Amino acid sequence: MIRTAFTEMLGIEHPVVSAGMGAGMADGDLAGAVSHAGGLGVVGASWLRPEQVAEMVARAREITDRPIAVNLLLFGNEHLLDDVLRTRPAVLSTAWAADDQDLAAIFASAHEAGAKVMHMVPRLDDAERAVEAGADVVVAQGTDGGGHVGLVGTTVVVRQVVKAVSPIPVLAAGGLADGAGLAAALALGASGILLGTRFLATNEAPLDAYYKDAIVASDGTDTVVTTVGEALTGRDWPGAFARVARTRFVEEWLGREPELRRRRSEVWDRLEQADANADADYALMWFGQSAGLIDSVAPVADVVRQIVADAEQILRGVGDTVA
Ligand SMILES: Cc1cc2nc3c(=O)[nH]c(=O)nc-3n(C[C@H](O)[C@H](O)[C@H](O)COP(=O)(O)O)c2cc1C
Repeated sequence: MIRTAFTEMLGIEHPVVSAGMGAGMADGDLAGAVSHAGGLGVVGASWLRPEQVAEMVARAREITDRPIAVNLLLFGNEHLLDDVLRTRPAVLSTAWAADDQDLAAIFASAHEAGAKVMHMVPRLDDAERAVEAGADVVVAQGTDGGGHVGLVGTTVVVRQVVKAVSPIPVLAAGGLADGAGLAAALALGASGILLGTRFLATNEAPLDAYYKDAIVASDGTDTVVTTVGEALTGRDWPGAFARVARTRFVEEWLGREPELRRRRSEVWDRLEQADANADADYALMWFGQSAGLIDSVAPVADVVRQIVADAEQILRGVGDTVA
């Protein structure tokens, strides 16, 4: 058993959290399974309709009566805040706020609804802003991670944030996938880990098999940090790039983002066709360097159990090395 300030705050068993990945990628089945396994499952609410969010949370609650969280990418989804809070999550998980968003007001609404606030940051100054605004937990996310990331590596940003915001619990994210990652995060002073890529390659994740197989096949060298995805979607992420698989599609558009913006709808059609054909070679797949540590698609419960068991063993062994 690994007890931390984070597990104590939420009354959960394991300091392992699944990322709230938007547009249906972290749905009720995935989040419910993670919470049921003793971690904290996060439903990704961004880019969805309120009724879809409510359905996902309801599905997670069919699976478990343990705490669950709901995530919002603040810059493009603040309009969903009240709908999310109406689902009564134990935790409001947030990330990527624009400079002109009132974090204190957003976090106060969550607190009034009985939720803790867990805010993810790619930089030290963002962590300081979140804590000033009343965040209960800070997730420090490094550039090794999948999806939208900043530029600082995980070990650096986690340690910076821990030193700055202690005793507020910090979770480490980005490039972590196993028990060694959890043990390392605890050694950096974090109170747990948040994983995206690892939970995408699980039986419960609502992804096509070609996407999960690409994660398993990756050796960690086949990702790239780019704004090709933003050129395609037209979303204006504040200060983020996205780490994606370096597929033929991404290669084709690297450095040609303005043209991609102009030909968006035509390119979407080609991508949808590739998706329908399960063509991983021409897909847009967000995943991180931690794919290099993942060698099978597994049930969520096994992933969580293995991470915790391996971390316990490593931490005991490390203790033995101290004379
Ligand atoms: C496909 C995908 C979608 C993501 N969507 C979101 C999101 O909607 N909100 C969010 O806060 N983080 C999102 N993230 C980032 C994760 O929260 C997390 O920081 C990242 O996955 C950690 O790195 P890892 O993939 O190496 O575990 C996403 C990540 C991936 C891979």
